[in-house]
Amino acid sequence: MEIRKFTPNDLKRVFEIENMSFRQSYGINMFQQLYDMGVGFLVAEDNGYVIGYIIFWIKYQNQGHIISIAVDKNYRRLGAGTKLLIKAISVLSLLDIDAIYLEVNENNYGAVEFYKNFDFQVDRVVPGYYENGDGAIVMYLPLELGKISRK
Ligand SMILES: CC(C)(COP(=O)(O)OP(=O)(O)OC[C@H]1O[C@@H](n2cnc3c(N)ncnc32)[C@H](O)[C@@H]1OP(=O)(O)O)[C@@H](O)C(=O)NCCC(=O)NCCS
Repeated sequence: MEIRKFTPNDLKRVFEIENMSFRQSYGINMFQQLYDMGVGFLVAEDNGYVIGYIIFWIKYQNQGHIISIAVDKNYRRLGAGTKLLIKAISVLSLLDIDAIYLEVNENNYGAVEFYKNFDFQVDRVVPGYYENGDGAIVMYLPLELGKISRK
């Protein structure tokens, strides 16, 4: 399994993975726009076949943000999500940021477990965050090393 940068050739496949993973879709144009904006955009590839992606950026000064991560249903629990998230964290760690934030649906127990493995902590719950009325759990990962390196 290889982690590499997204290219526009991956657009259709990333959209397909997003569609099977979330009820609410960003839509294919949004992926193109995010890419054009220069966000962090990586894909996981298994023998040349894209099986997952992660999108991240710096939301505010000193605050990283995971915009989206998903792995093809047929390739979950094989470590692809972990590899994608580790790579994104390592890229963000090189920048001058204090913590990485993300929102996860309060009913998405699997994803919450996934993030807890990385020591993401619960910050707060935002009721009605999603279109269908579900709340979001805001989680964050403090980047201690970043703080030390800025002293
Ligand atoms: C969350 C997601 C990206 C994880 O990807 P993945 O490739 O399956 O994750 P990994 O194989 O690296 O899992 C690592 C560990 O996380 C935990 N984990 C992952 N999925 C889990 C689940 N459904 N239930 C409980 N724990 C889970 C486990 O501890 C797992 O280790 P294990 O398989 O040895 O038990 C994937 O389930 C997914 O695409 N879900 C739909 C989209 C989504 O919810 N994205 C996050 C939105 S914020």
